[in-house]
Amino acid sequence: MDSFVLTLNGKQVEFEPGQTILQVAENNGVHIPTLCYLKGCTPTGACRICLVEVEGARSLVASCSTPAEKGMVIHTESERVHRTRKLTTEFLIASGKHDCITCERSGSCTLQDLAYRYGIDTVRFETTVRPYEKEDVNPFIIRDFTRCILCSRCVQACQEVQVNRAISFGYRGPHAKIIAGGDVPYHESDCVFCGQCLQACPVGALVEKKARFAGREKDVEKVRTTCPYCGVGCQLELQVKDKRIVKVNAVEDAAPNKGRLCVKGRFGYDFIYSEDRLKTPLIRENGEFREASWDEALDLVASRFKTIIEEHGPDAVAGVSCARSINEDSYQMQKLFRGVFKTNNIDHCART
Ligand code: FES
Repeated sequence: MDSFVLTLNGKQVEFEPGQTILQVAENNGVHIPTLCYLKGCTPTGACRICLVEVEGARSLVASCSTPAEKGMVIHTESERVHRTRKLTTEFLIASGKHDCITCERSGSCTLQDLAYRYGIDTVRFETTVRPYEKEDVNPFIIRDFTRCILCSRCVQACQEVQVNRAISFGYRGPHAKIIAGGDVPYHESDCVFCGQCLQACPVGALVEKKARFAGREKDVEKVRTTCPYCGVGCQLELQVKDKRIVKVNAVEDAAPNKGRLCVKGRFGYDFIYSEDRLKTPLIRENGEFREASWDEALDLVASRFKTIIEEHGPDAVAGVSCARSINEDSYQMQKLFRGVFKTNNIDHCART
């Protein structure tokens, strides 16, 4: 059987039928810059940053949306490719207010990286800024339309990753804008504030409100952990600065959430720092709570269970397992009630 082989920057490489040029390059350790490409989603070919040269083709092709073919001879870093990527980057910079001084994404911005990579210190085109005010009225996300490059990653994240379909493209030409519903603020639309758009934005157009001025990505420590909210076990990447969480992202490519989060997992971490948070068990005596050690509290619970079961039988007790517990904890809870207490009075509370 004929093998699927093409030439990539002078080297013969194999590929699987159906792979794009970008995928073949990634699999062979060749980095092609991208802006609009969002892994796992339908390529839109909107930004033209990933252009490469294919010998015999009339024009440069978008590697993210062009299928690899047998015998292709591809150049990802030719002079023509560089010249075109530089020009495209200049157009993008000229299409908005891309000042980096206080931008949250400075240091982790794809547009900034491209400008540096292609040595752009002056832009030859007049800047046009989209005529929209910053949206700062919802509790979680700031939308700065003047920094938006209309790459569509947020739209794809909303439509294809989370399948919420709350945002889309609106208007035309210099008035083009990412809109929620019929162009209303996020909180008046179908947006559920999963924040997937935030995670997909490659520039500073979408910013987490709580994270503003709290620490840029380049200054934080990244800590992987499991979401504490429910038993699904979504994988989180905490961005931590000075021992405080600045921001939460989903870990890409990790089960079970594969880069997705819900509103609680992404934004609901303030309780960690609440003054009201219980730090020790409490025992009620004479109508008042007093702090106790874990040993004392557990001994008390065990002795009360024992007394009730001795006096009234095993069906006098019941257990409700927390829906936020992991499966293993819930399993142990039902084992305790069925195996040790000898009752089937065991259930779990509904998820909230
Ligand atoms: Fe391929 Fe944008 S990344 S066109």
